[in-house]
Amino acid sequence: MTIDMKVKKIKNGTVIDHITAGQALNVLKILGITKEYPKTTVTVAMNVPSGKLGFKDIVKVEGRELEAEELDKISLIAPDATINIIRDYEVVEKKTVSLPEILEGVLECDNPNCITHFEAAKSQFIVEEKNPIKLRCVYCERSMDEEGVVKQF
Ligand code: CTP
Ligand code: ZN
Repeated sequence: MTIDMKVKKIKNGTVIDHITAGQALNVLKILGITKEYPKTTVTVAMNVPSGKLGFKDIVKVEGRELEAEELDKISLIAPDATINIIRDYEVVEKKTVSLPEILEGVLECDNPNCITHFEAAKSQFIVEEKNPIKLRCVYCERSMDEEGVVKQF
């Protein structure tokens, strides 16, 4: 038996697989899945054995396909995630998330004096490290780590 059989297949929706272990709840936050979320079935699996000695989280969302901005945010905390679009029980599309070298407009700079808060400029961060994430504001050079990123979701 494979591990996947522990978690039911879905009919229509999205399976976010290979999420960095421990990040499933942040993925739910990115997707806006909270107590108030309409009646969509969501399955979360955490610390599932994956490959040699590794672990992963999985999130399955019924009846929903994800938007580009949601994928960008997921790439910040789960750079190896794979996005599987499911229609009528079949995987019809498989995508990976990709973290750009420069992240534009997705997050705000933590520095209250940063010019991006005063001018109509889009925020810009250089991605210095990918896993765990480390960003640096192009304008004021303030750095932001995973904790600062997740606070904004
Ligand atoms: N899945 C699902 N419901 C379906 C079809 C697939 O929940 N109706 C899940 C599988 O359990 C798996 C993921 O979607 O977690 C990807 O499915 P599939 O491509 O069949 O699995 P793998 O070949 O293992 O994919 P990969 O090696 O690319 O991760
Ligand atoms: Zn800044």
